Amino acid sequence: MHGSFNSSKLYQEDLLIQQIGKSYHQSLTILITDPWRAGAFEGFPETGAKKEGKMSKQRLLTGHEVEPMSEEWFTKKAQGHSTFTHGIVRILPDGWLYPGTTPRFLDRIQSVKFRNDDVIVLTFPKSGTTWMQEIIWTMLFNPNLDNPQATQPLLVRSADISSDMLFDSVNIQDVNPESLYATFNKMCPGKSVDDGVAVQCVDATPGQRVIKCHYPLELMPPDLLDKTKVVYVARNPKDMVLSFYHFYKVIKVFDYKDSLDSFIKLFMENDLVYCPFWPHIKQAWQKRNHPNLHFVFYEDLKADIQGELRKINQFLSTGLTEQQLKNVVQHTSFSSMKSRGDPIPDKGLFNKELHQSSGGYFRKGVTGDWKNHFSPELNQEMDKWIKDNIGDSGIRFKMD
Ligand code: A3P
Repeated sequence: MHGSFNSSKLYQEDLLIQQIGKSYHQSLTILITDPWRAGAFEGFPETGAKKEGKMSKQRLLTGHEVEPMSEEWFTKKAQGHSTFTHGIVRILPDGWLYPGTTPRFLDRIQSVKFRNDDVIVLTFPKSGTTWMQEIIWTMLFNPNLDNPQATQPLLVRSADISSDMLFDSVNIQDVNPESLYATFNKMCPGKSVDDGVAVQCVDATPGQRVIKCHYPLELMPPDLLDKTKVVYVARNPKDMVLSFYHFYKVIKVFDYKDSLDSFIKLFMENDLVYCPFWPHIKQAWQKRNHPNLHFVFYEDLKADIQGELRKINQFLSTGLTEQQLKNVVQHTSFSSMKSRGDPIPDKGLFNKELHQSSGGYFRKGVTGDWKNHFSPELNQEMDKWIKDNIGDSGIRFKMD
């Protein structure tokens, strides 16, 4: 699907001296090269990043280091990860695990002009992202439930700025996500898909935007919260990882075939794409009192949706009436969203039968389903992992 990443042409502006300020790189001036455009990933190994040590580490525009995963890692963790044409990388120091094309797209995101009225729904996957996207889109654009645009697939109305990296999987080389590509061709004529379909669609979207994002705060532009409102949704890790397991199995990008127990071990060892879980949530939690960040738990949405919508109404200054909030509750209920169909209409991206039999994108939508799937041993292990990692952060999950 992507064109070649092997362009060896050095661009004039390849060397950038970037002053990275604010929260995590205070007054640090770093000489940064753009490894992708400079062709540094030229010869990046096909399927599996198996040429350990052949590339020097690269840096992102944010200053983070990029480390390709070793042959040894692939020997042990190939399941679900050997499908990526450009291998898998870790972004240091926190160790975010992503497909090898991700650095290119993370650098591209740094030049997106985020706007004052943007709302970014930022989450670790399977934490209630789709639900929150629909809630916010409906609050902003459809509080009276009379907007004909509402019938458009959610991912067309609210693009996932962090999705471009996924399309590198060999399993979907022949499956151009129709709705995404149709939007791209319309909105970005003459632009190259290699520079990111989703990220360029976000860039080209006029007016107010609701943007989905799975990247952690630290990989986004450092001044994001100065400009833009972020709603962060967190979900207890037991239900989240169960949902994530189904996703890893049904989406062809990963095509994971191993057991739930093995999957959860990979999760706890930070060896799944999008991991690690803890820094993702902690970075947002630490900003929970920032005027431009609203932190909400999936379980609280489940327990008192109208009450949580009132808080979002205030946070976004949307000024909706109680009746309009009720409309939003009704329109975004699990059954209502499920009845309208998947947010990603491109069926080719999923293992069809498995997707259907496991309940589709709107699988169960409950809290506590992990109890039906975890063995006592697995549960004990996860409890220990949670205790060890939650530390004195103050985060409290509701597990029931
Ligand atoms: P389950 O797999 O546990 O059912 P994300 O959107 O971040 O990928 O999260 C998907 C999870 O949110 C799925 O969880 C899905 O069923 C649940 N979900 C989606 N819409 C929902 C809604 N309206 N109400 C409750 N849960 C919802």
